[in-house]
Amino acid sequence: MAAKIAILAGDGIGPEIVSEAVKVLECLQQSYALDIELEQAVIGGAAYDESGNPLPQKTLDLCKAADAILLGAVGGPQYEALERDLRPEKGLLGLRAELELFSNLRPALLYPQLVNASSLKPEIVSGLDIMIVRELTGGIYFGQPRGIRTLENGERQGYNTLVYAEHEIERIARSAFDVAMKRSKKVCSVDKANVLEVSELWREVMIRVSKEYPQIQLSHMYVDNASMQLVKWPKQFDVIVTNNLFGDILSDTAAMLTGSIGMLPSASLDKNGKGMYEPIHGSAPDIAGTNTANPLATILSVAMMLRYSLNQPELAVCVEQAVSAVLDQGIRTQDIADGGSSVSTRKMGEAVVSALQLKSK
Ligand code: IPM
Ligand code: MG
Repeated sequence: MAAKIAILAGDGIGPEIVSEAVKVLECLQQSYALDIELEQAVIGGAAYDESGNPLPQKTLDLCKAADAILLGAVGGPQYEALERDLRPEKGLLGLRAELELFSNLRPALLYPQLVNASSLKPEIVSGLDIMIVRELTGGIYFGQPRGIRTLENGERQGYNTLVYAEHEIERIARSAFDVAMKRSKKVCSVDKANVLEVSELWREVMIRVSKEYPQIQLSHMYVDNASMQLVKWPKQFDVIVTNNLFGDILSDTAAMLTGSIGMLPSASLDKNGKGMYEPIHGSAPDIAGTNTANPLATILSVAMMLRYSLNQPELAVCVEQAVSAVLDQGIRTQDIADGGSSVSTRKMGEAVVSALQLKSK
């Protein structure tokens, strides 16, 4: 039976980059006999504009029925004044929560062709290959109570809650250790256990679960130090596991080490490996509609989808090799051009499709 893939383009550059990734999926369908069925739906600001709801029931139902989801990006300045529950981000967070996509894999891999696009020295970043495993459905993003209240003296006070139950820590620990077993078996758990009780429990549970994985070498680091070490000597890391908020921040840092956030894909998985795949960059409203965004992070998200949800590891490698071949040809979008000449979003997508077609012959 054909695997069902929900396509959610979203806002800003979302539609432009997703179109190119869809061309890659269609190429795999035609030239590699990949048995898939694509169905589009709206999310985020686009969905709000259409129906007043950033996560319409129809979209949620489609995503629940799908085997995998490909998402572009959500958000834009025109939605910032809306009440929180109607904002585009709520659509994305709602989907993560409703589908229980608790394990967010964010690889930061430096393509050797782009070593000069990084703001760090080549010797610091060349060969970089880090996997950040970010907890995605708990912590301060979802903790209750939250809000803005008025105190007795009339002053307003904003508050959020950083909470983790043991089962939430256990499952993200297992997820990280499973990933590490297929890599160098080294995991660094990042927390703030010197200040936060929730981190103290996080660390205790990480250590407990690691006993089930005798081959795993587990270390711990405070988040402030981790952010420094990431730019000082990033190659000391292999797998990093951390909470929702720390993972949000550290994954942007790690992305930039590779030269451009426009290169990095992500997978958000539930306990059965069903997943949502999205570039880690946002909707980039400043360049939306200009046909200049880099579609490679979204195309590489398709590769992750092939690997983690569609059980097609060989095809995942084909897509990754096609991207690498295109970089070898010197084809660059603006963000990775290092001041040199650049091509459009569409040209970049077409170049990847051509490289894929060539490989299928
Ligand atoms: C990300 C984004 C989201 C997050 C926003 C858009 C809600 O920054 O996926 O990293 O904070 O998780
Ligand atoms: Mg983020």
